[in-house]
Amino acid sequence: MIEIIGATKVFDNGKTKIQAIKDVSLKINRGEIHGIIGYSGAGKSTLVRCINLLERPTKGKILFKGEDLTTLRERDLRDRRKKMGMIFQHFNLFNSRSVYGNIAYPLKGSRLSKEEEREKVLELLELVGLEDRVKAYPSELSGGQKQRVAIARALANNPEVLLCDEATSALDPKTTDSILELLRELKNKLNLTIVLITHEMAVIKKICDRVSVMEDGQIIEEGTVARVFTQPVHETTKEFIDTATNRNRIYEILNEGENIFNIEEGDVLARVVYVGKSTAEALLSKGSRRYEVDASILYGNIEILGNTPTGEMIILLSGGRGDIQRFMDYFKGKGLIVEVLDHGADTSKVCAKCS
Ligand SMILES: Nc1ncnc2c1ncn2[C@@H]1O[C@H](COP(=O)(O)OP(=O)(O)OP(=O)(O)O)[C@@H](O)[C@H]1O
Ligand SMILES: [Mg+2]
Repeated sequence: MIEIIGATKVFDNGKTKIQAIKDVSLKINRGEIHGIIGYSGAGKSTLVRCINLLERPTKGKILFKGEDLTTLRERDLRDRRKKMGMIFQHFNLFNSRSVYGNIAYPLKGSRLSKEEEREKVLELLELVGLEDRVKAYPSELSGGQKQRVAIARALANNPEVLLCDEATSALDPKTTDSILELLRELKNKLNLTIVLITHEMAVIKKICDRVSVMEDGQIIEEGTVARVFTQPVHETTKEFIDTATNRNRIYEILNEGENIFNIEEGDVLARVVYVGKSTAEALLSKGSRRYEVDASILYGNIEILGNTPTGEMIILLSGGRGDIQRFMDYFKGKGLIVEVLDHGADTSKVCAKCS
C-alpha cells in the first residue's frame, strides 16, 4: 500500500542542517495497523508527513499503491492526498466552526449538493458516534469527542489510509481506549490502512499489527507486534517494552540481592517466552513431573497481541543439574524460547541485559 524507499529529510534553515530522517525504508501493507514508536525528536512526525508529502523528502521515493508521489504534479498530488486522512494530538479543529462546519470543510470543492453534503456529514458523525453533537462547537466538546470529530473530518473524502500522529496522547487512558477501539472498528468497516505514531507501547500493544521503532531518524527495529514484544532486539525497543510490563521490577528485586525468592546454589533462573498456541503452564507441570524439577514462577505475563497469545515467564528451577538441562531442552523442543539468566550462586544478581 505504502512503500518508503530510502527517504531522507534534511531541514536546512541556511545556518544549520538537521537530518530528521535518514535513509528510511519501510513497507506498510494494505489493511494493517502499523505503529511507529520512538522518543521525542526521533523523526516520527517527519516520516509520517513524508508519506503524504506534507514534507517532501530530500531524497528517496514514496510509493502509494505503486505510484511514486514525489514525481507527481501538484494537482495530481492533491488528488492522491485526499486518499490519506490525517489526525493529530491536538485535534486541529476550527474553533469558529461547528462540528458540522468542521466535517463539511474538506468536502468543499467536491461538488456535492447541500443535501448530499448534509447526508455525508451525518453519516460520518454516525460512524464516530457523535450524531447528537452536530451543532456543537469544539469548545463545548471533551478531548475524546474532539478527536472523534477530527476522525470524521479525516474520513470525509473516503480515504484508504489514515495517518495518526499521537492521536491519543492528549487523552486519558479510558478515552484513549475508546478512540483506539473506534479506529479498529473503522479500519475493518472501511478497509483502512492505518499508520499510528505513539510514544506509548501500550497503544501499540492494543491495536497494531506491526511496529517500527524509530531512533535518531532511523528505523532501528521493525516487525509484527508479537515478535517485537517477545523477542526485541534493540535496547531502545526493550526500554519501550519495559514501560508496558512490570518485568523490569522483577530484575530490580533480584538485583537488590535480598534473595527473597530463596535462590539456592545450583538453581537456575530462566526466562521463558512463547508465541502462539503452546500453553506454558501445562508444560511446566508436565516438565516438572517428568524431570523432577521444581519450577516456581517469579514473574508471568500473558498477552494477546494482534490475535496471537504470547507469554513470558521468569521461572526458578531447582533440581539436579542434568535434570534442569533436560527440562529446558524439553521446553525448547516444544517451540518455546528459553534463556538462562545470569546470576551468581551466592547472591541473586541478575543480568537484566540478558533479558
Ligand atoms: N520544520 C522543521 N524545521 C527544522 N527542524 C525540524 C522541523 N521539523 C522537525 N524538525 C527536527 O527534526 C527532528 C525530528 O522531528 P520530529 O518532529 O519528526 O520528531 P518526533 O519523533 O515526531 O518527535 P515528537 O515525539 O516530539 O513529536 C527533530 O530534531 C526536530 O527538531
Ligand atoms: Mg511528532
